[in-house]
Amino acid sequence: MAFVSLFALAALATVVSAAPSKTAVCADGTRVSNDACCAFIPLAQDLQDNLFQGDCGEDAHEVVRLTFHDAIAISRSQGPKAGGGADGSMLLFPTVEPLFPPNNGISDSVNNLLHFLPLHPVSAGDLIQFAGAVALSNCPGAPQLEFLAGRPNKTFAAVQGLIPEPSDSVTKILDKVDETIDAAPFDSTPFTFDTQVFLEVLLKGTGFPGTANNTGEVASPLPLGSGTDTGEMRLQSDFVLARDSRTACFWQGFVNEQEFMAASFKAAMAKLAVLGHNRNALIDCSDVVPTPKPAVGTPASFPATTGPQDLELSCNTARFPKLAVQAGTEQAIIPHCSTGGMSCPGVDFDGPAQDSS
Ligand code: HEM
Ligand SMILES: *[C@@H]1O[C@H](CO)[C@@H](O)[C@H](O)[C@H]1NC(C)=O
Ligand SMILES: *[C@@H]1O[C@H](CO)[C@@H](O)[C@H](O)[C@H]1NC(C)=O
Repeated sequence: MAFVSLFALAALATVVSAAPSKTAVCADGTRVSNDACCAFIPLAQDLQDNLFQGDCGEDAHEVVRLTFHDAIAISRSQGPKAGGGADGSMLLFPTVEPLFPPNNGISDSVNNLLHFLPLHPVSAGDLIQFAGAVALSNCPGAPQLEFLAGRPNKTFAAVQGLIPEPSDSVTKILDKVDETIDAAPFDSTPFTFDTQVFLEVLLKGTGFPGTANNTGEVASPLPLGSGTDTGEMRLQSDFVLARDSRTACFWQGFVNEQEFMAASFKAAMAKLAVLGHNRNALIDCSDVVPTPKPAVGTPASFPATTGPQDLELSCNTARFPKLAVQAGTEQAIIPHCSTGGMSCPGVDFDGPAQDSS
């Protein structure tokens, strides 16, 4: 999965504490660390059966994105009234936040999760972060995320403008991406949690998967598409993070370092998921997070028609790893669906949330 902009969060990396002992027994006989964790066992099953279907596809990707957009709506400078962080406000005020332009595309995941909210005795904030951990477990190579339960349901809608704006270029990217194409991948392996995106963002851009010159989008190295297989899209923020002297070595350091990348992502997500909360006031229910599918074990490699000559490297203190070049004389088409088909199995529950455009 193309976890772009992992950087911003990974920079906050933390240590995840050891698992507590399992002293509670749930209705199904599962032993867990705390009674409060039991509700998440049938929830995980329901989400897998009726939403994700075990797939690391679009429905899973969208929910992972939602964990970020719910949590990041918090502000030190504007104070607690501006946004409650990982508080479920996206689900509790489904006609407010999804309409903010940076949240474009989020409404499908909001409506999908709203279907499950009245069916399980969990809060909206817990549902979002837990569903994200379940979604991620379908992506081979993903880490088993920490999950802490107990976010209260009582909150308020966030104000506009809280999606991070570390630079103008990032600000712009949130305004508008390519709306002529749907679910364009950020790397050539969108159904696995691997490091391929960190390599591909370093390659010279050659074209656009949809229309050219959209704000926030720059040329990608694999723009070729066919039907609903759209070709790779590159976000301008990823482009600059990968090349800026302050972040280039950090970015490059993830290339072909599966374990390090997964561990960094896990640490970053642990920070993200408790924004707006005191982590000591939450209950560690990491033991109910499904075990992720194992990594496919394929090393990062240059897509066919690209190679080391296309690298745009700015890191001066570390050598770039030696990677194989995939065979082939033509640019491979990136599949739109994990099944390889053109029309992906997907779920769209009706609900009140809508995008602004
Ligand atoms: C500065 C930080 C970030 C920026 C500027 C950013 C921007 C974007 C944009 C513009 C899209 C495309 C949305 C669309 O298709 O309409 C996207 C998709 C996505 N983002 Fe981010 N993102 C950021 C951080 C993150 C983080 C931290 C995560 C992980 C928790 C994440 C997960 C995703 C996922 C999974 C998708 C694909 C969603 C799908 O396929 O429907 N993003 N992001
Ligand atoms: C949180 O609020 C939603 C929406 O009103 C409700 O369906 C859900 O059961 C509540 N959860 C808890 C734990 O109160
Ligand atoms: C994109 O914008 C650049 C600079 O404004 C321009 O030179 C180029 O022709 C544009 N490309 C397309 C395909 O519109």
